[in-house]
Amino acid sequence: MRIAIITGASSGLGAEYIKQIDEKYRFSELWIIARRKDRLENIAQETRTKVRVLAMDLTDAAMREKLASILARIKPVVGLLINAAGMGKIGRYDEIGPQNELAMIRLNCEAAVAVTQLVLPYMRKGSRIMQICSTAAFQPLQGLSVYAASKAFLLRYSRGLGAELLGTGIRVTAVCPYWIKDTEFIPVAKETESSAVRHFPFASGKRSVAAVSLWASKVGFPVCTPGIFCTIHRIISIIPDTVLMLGWEGIRRI
Ligand SMILES: NC(=O)c1ccc[n+]([C@@H]2O[C@H](COP(=O)([O-])OP(=O)(O)OC[C@H]3O[C@@H](n4cnc5c(N)ncnc54)[C@H](OP(=O)(O)O)[C@@H]3O)[C@@H](O)[C@H]2O)c1
Repeated sequence: MRIAIITGASSGLGAEYIKQIDEKYRFSELWIIARRKDRLENIAQETRTKVRVLAMDLTDAAMREKLASILARIKPVVGLLINAAGMGKIGRYDEIGPQNELAMIRLNCEAAVAVTQLVLPYMRKGSRIMQICSTAAFQPLQGLSVYAASKAFLLRYSRGLGAELLGTGIRVTAVCPYWIKDTEFIPVAKETESSAVRHFPFASGKRSVAAVSLWASKVGFPVCTPGIFCTIHRIISIIPDTVLMLGWEGIRRI
């Protein structure tokens, strides 16, 4: 049985990946993961491919053990893993608070690595991993410090892992989108009611981000910047951090 596993599946980009994979690819099953079971069940009903709903909090090690035991029992070949579960919070350190900061690290870094480790033994030649990072990975971002650092971690981890997997036929793509307007990410990030980032100009759409990144993963790109702004950001990230941070200081006040 050849399956795809998608985390962060209950909304936004994760749900869009499910839709596009269902339309374009052939897997025996899609295993979809997030906390909100009702959302996952609704998505499962709209999907032609057989879906296994796994309602779990990926920051909970006991829940990840449950995933490990299901994998061990069924022993599927995992053709595609998309780690899209992620969260951000906007604000200064004292607006975000330690709980939110640690929650970002646990989900964006720890859970992504843990799920990847769990799934890798079930991957074969031709399997693919997509780690959903962010354009925030390309520089330090005041007002989004921990989020940007967590995505920089995920980008570096993805590239390192991709190199370790050379010769196995398993490919890793770090997907680094700019703001996406039609997901729940920005409303969740703004729950702090901080004015550290005021506007999200020229935000992209989840449909094109998912389509371009699925293509980039298929082609085997180690890094995908699915849009013009994140591509420019990646290019200019050769500029020293201090200069980039000064630029960001202006942009975030717009
Ligand atoms: N939107 C943007 O502007 C943007 C830009 C660049 C990168 N990204 C990245 O893109 C990815 C997808 O985000 P999105 O824009 O699609 O936002 P979203 O709509 O908020 O999706 C986030 C997903 O993660 C799941 N999730 C959150 N906490 C979880 C937990 N503890 N355990 C399991 N699942 C959890 C959520 O489902 P439940 O609440 O049901 O658990 C949801 O399905 C994230 O990694 C984000 O950092 C987003």
